[in-house]
Amino acid sequence: MWTYVPFLAPLFFLSLVHADDPYRFFTWNITFGDIYPLGVPQQGILINGQFPGPDIYCNTNDNLIINVHNSLTEPFLISWNGLQQRRNSWEDGVEGTTCPIPPGQNFTYILQVKDQIGSFFYFPSLNFHKAAGGFGGIRILSRPLIPVPFSDPSGDFTVLIGDWYKTNHTALKTKLDNGKKLPFPDGILINGHASNGASFTVDQGKTYRFRVSNVGLQNSLNIRFQGHKMKLVEVEGTHTLQNTYSSLDVHVGQSYSFLVTMDQAPVDYYIVVSTRFTSNVLTTTAVLHYSNSGTRVSGPPPGGPTVQIDWSLNQARSIRTNLTASGPRPNPQGSYHYGMINTSRTIRLANSASLINGKQRYAVNSVSFIPSDTPLKLADYYKISGVFRLGSISDNPTGQKEYLDTSVMPADYRTFIEIIFENKESIIQSWHLDGHSFWVVGMDGGQWSPDSRKEYNLRDAVSRCTTQVYPKSWTAIYIALDNVGMWNVRTEFWSRRYLGQQFYLRVYTPVNSIRDEYPIPKNALLCGRAAGRHTRPL
Ligand SMILES: *[C@@H]1O[C@H](CO)[C@@H](O)[C@H](O)[C@H]1NC(C)=O
Ligand SMILES: *[C@@H]1O[C@H](CO)[C@@H](O)[C@H](O)[C@H]1NC(C)=O
Ligand SMILES: *[C@@H]1O[C@H](CO)[C@@H](O)[C@H](O)[C@H]1NC(C)=O
Ligand SMILES: *[C@@H]1O[C@H](CO)[C@@H](O)[C@H](O)[C@H]1NC(C)=O
Ligand SMILES: *[C@@H]1O[C@H](CO)[C@@H](O)[C@H](O)[C@H]1NC(C)=O
Repeated sequence: MWTYVPFLAPLFFLSLVHADDPYRFFTWNITFGDIYPLGVPQQGILINGQFPGPDIYCNTNDNLIINVHNSLTEPFLISWNGLQQRRNSWEDGVEGTTCPIPPGQNFTYILQVKDQIGSFFYFPSLNFHKAAGGFGGIRILSRPLIPVPFSDPSGDFTVLIGDWYKTNHTALKTKLDNGKKLPFPDGILINGHASNGASFTVDQGKTYRFRVSNVGLQNSLNIRFQGHKMKLVEVEGTHTLQNTYSSLDVHVGQSYSFLVTMDQAPVDYYIVVSTRFTSNVLTTTAVLHYSNSGTRVSGPPPGGPTVQIDWSLNQARSIRTNLTASGPRPNPQGSYHYGMINTSRTIRLANSASLINGKQRYAVNSVSFIPSDTPLKLADYYKISGVFRLGSISDNPTGQKEYLDTSVMPADYRTFIEIIFENKESIIQSWHLDGHSFWVVGMDGGQWSPDSRKEYNLRDAVSRCTTQVYPKSWTAIYIALDNVGMWNVRTEFWSRRYLGQQFYLRVYTPVNSIRDEYPIPKNALLCGRAAGRHTRPL
């Protein structure tokens, strides 16, 4: 629900956003409501009465003014998976940057999708709200004169896939708070529906774009179209080499878009989503309905890969950037030679699971993150001491016993760094960094060593914001830290994030300039030890 106002905006916002770029206004009412995705009623989080929430459609550089009314009985925040929010971590909507919207109040997010294209999603970041809904798709289209490396599809579908529990979000949270792990999920949803509840109507002979995001809580999922090929075109803002796949792994928190040509006989087909790397495989189907079909889907849906890791790793390596295609700007994506830049720092991040004080926790380099009473970004801005310590997490695994802390890692603005995710555990991981995208230069089994750099892809790796790390494996990324702010580095495995597998990266410059970072928004909510401060220096 948005209005398009080309060159006009309320004065209030003018100081914060680019006045010459178009504005899109959204008004969202967040409510609890009964939903029955797996047949049993449970408390869901609705946006304007919808589960999943409405899609955000926009173009590169648009300003998004999103007025969120929290009609829940508890605090609420929305965050934006993959939106970079340049110079503006104030709007990131995670508890380390932004005060929760109190029940009964509203808060207006002021975002700009500067220099971005692609498929992403938003989600509720507090408590265990993500298990109740409140998520939706985001698509950023190229500006009209920027070439897109494929013809305009005849339709463009958002496909939100994710594992799901019949247990409500409060009960799941209580389990975690009591130090327990969550059980295996009860099912998979496709756009909020169990099997054959979601249906996509297409015309024979035409080509459609499908934007798939895994909005679930933990499981890697495989998606496939019965009898059809999927031509990959975009991964989290990068136009890829247009390889065709018969099925595609989408790890939790990731987004992919691909084209499917409806070149088969006019009957209905299954779209199948199933869990990966699990002994018990959950499967859910949706219907691909040819508009001239007289035959409904029947019989068993096609099976997919289940436990094979090598298959998935090889597929991941085959996903590469089309260097000659344009991204958000007219120049080719390959004109930024990331492989020729020397990194100035290597950070190695090892995840682990352990009991702390008898309760289940998860950690990064031995630190299990606990939130503070004040958003870290606000504590930093108002120079409130005692909220966090820089360097409270090490650059390398320490081998120490896991402990609780509010971990913040310092980093210098405009440095080009290497991060190695080291997964010694026997389950897959999925890591996300807010405010940036990064090149996934390598991944392999075993222990990373400096020698592993010889196998890096320094030419056409994809730039994205969420990467998987296979069991007992490593993944290496390169990042240009070109966005000042306080940015969440997190696992997308939601119970692990809730129980500490995350921290904040403080990308800092001593220069106090609006060119590097926007001032605190006038409407910023203030809470904790920042309560009662002024949003602008007097
Ligand atoms: C939000 O929805 C609830 C339930 O329908 C309604 O009572 C409330 O007035 C709405 N609030 C706003 C701001 O639209
Ligand atoms: C709350 O919503 C009203 C309009 O419904 C708007 O005028 C006001 O600016 C919003 N408040 C904040 C803090 O965003
Ligand atoms: C890469 O993009 C170019 C430019 O749009 C296009 O002509 C070409 O077909 C693409 N190549 C592949 C392999 O996807
Ligand atoms: C959530 O589930 C718990 C346990 O089944 C139940 O006691 C509680 O009433 C539920 N909450 C809501 C709001 O449905
Ligand atoms: C990168 O480092 C190498 C070896 O230290 C050096 O020869 C090269 O000039 C550096 N390149 C750049 C672009 O700084």
